[in-house]
Amino acid sequence: MRLLEDLPDLAGCSALLRADVNVPLENSRITDDFRIRASMETLVWLLRQGAKVELCGHLGRPKGQVKPELSLASVEARLRELLEGALGAGELAAAQDFQQNLTVRENLRFDPRETANDPTFVQELIADHDCYVNDAFGASHRAHASIVGPPEFLPSAAGRLLAKEVEVLKGLREHPKRPFVAVLGGAKISDKLGVVTALLDVVDQLVIGGAMAFTFLAAQGYSVGSSLFEPDFVAECRKLLEAEAQILLPTDLVAENASGQTKQAGLDLSEGWAGKDIGPGTAAEFADTVLAARSVFWNGPMGVFEDERFAAGTATLAEAVNDTSAYTVIGGGDTVAAAGAFGFMDDIDHISTGGGASLELLERGSLPGLEVL
Ligand code: 3PG
Repeated sequence: MRLLEDLPDLAGCSALLRADVNVPLENSRITDDFRIRASMETLVWLLRQGAKVELCGHLGRPKGQVKPELSLASVEARLRELLEGALGAGELAAAQDFQQNLTVRENLRFDPRETANDPTFVQELIADHDCYVNDAFGASHRAHASIVGPPEFLPSAAGRLLAKEVEVLKGLREHPKRPFVAVLGGAKISDKLGVVTALLDVVDQLVIGGAMAFTFLAAQGYSVGSSLFEPDFVAECRKLLEAEAQILLPTDLVAENASGQTKQAGLDLSEGWAGKDIGPGTAAEFADTVLAARSVFWNGPMGVFEDERFAAGTATLAEAVNDTSAYTVIGGGDTVAAAGAFGFMDDIDHISTGGGASLELLERGSLPGLEVL
């Protein structure tokens, strides 16, 4: 993969920088600027080389429509604030030039040609640019125009963030310190079957929580009551359980009924009760597994952690991931939000900016956006 240092001399050049600035918003206000902060290193590097930079990115899924609430204006304002703060004392004189040399393009997904990877849009994006840098790790699993198009026409490279994410995640996939434990949670097994299957080839233990565990529990013959589960995938989960000994599933649950009553429960739930969190016994076992590991990858909450009645499982796991002496990587918006909300983030070795992208890289070992670089 070509890196920033492989680009020709950038002084006076015009660079198109694709970043993943897809941040959570509330009433058009940014509620978490993690991805914008993570994009700064490459941006500042390019400006220091004397390049003019057009930064482009997407926000949300406007489906080819112009939606003012998804304008990149708030991202641009935050970028400019962070740029001011990123400069050294000796650079203050250059600050104005840096600000002038930066332009931010409006949300790429306001144009339907972005997600359709339309060649006419690629030509519009690259017009007047001399080189292209992809630093949008979190969007590099999308074969969209701004991700896969420009490298065909311009000298191109991976930015610092993209390069770091690839190094960490490929390292985990190819030569992890063992035991390597992956913890997966979240709603649907259908979204994660590919990564589950691929991870089983590399991990020593695969811990499964969240609603996706119910399809496995149904495959083991438990009655899952009214829990979210995917009947069409039960057979697939049964096959995995028969073939793979290293899958660790919940042994107890916290469940809720339609009138909002909650209880700690075993794995057989009666109709009307839905599992909403792993139980305390499971949380302790999952935490012990993480504490005994030497590498840990975690994606997906263990329960409906936004509701404090169902937060304990995710909080216990987050604490273990933070406290373990293992090399730890977490990814996915919900997972990072949970670790942050519970205050267990300081000792994580790598917080990935990618959700789907980190899973797909672990699954396939590459991404469309990386292949073209
Ligand atoms: C993300 O938030 O995971 C990336 O920015 C990609 O966004 P998308 O899932 O809407 O393509």
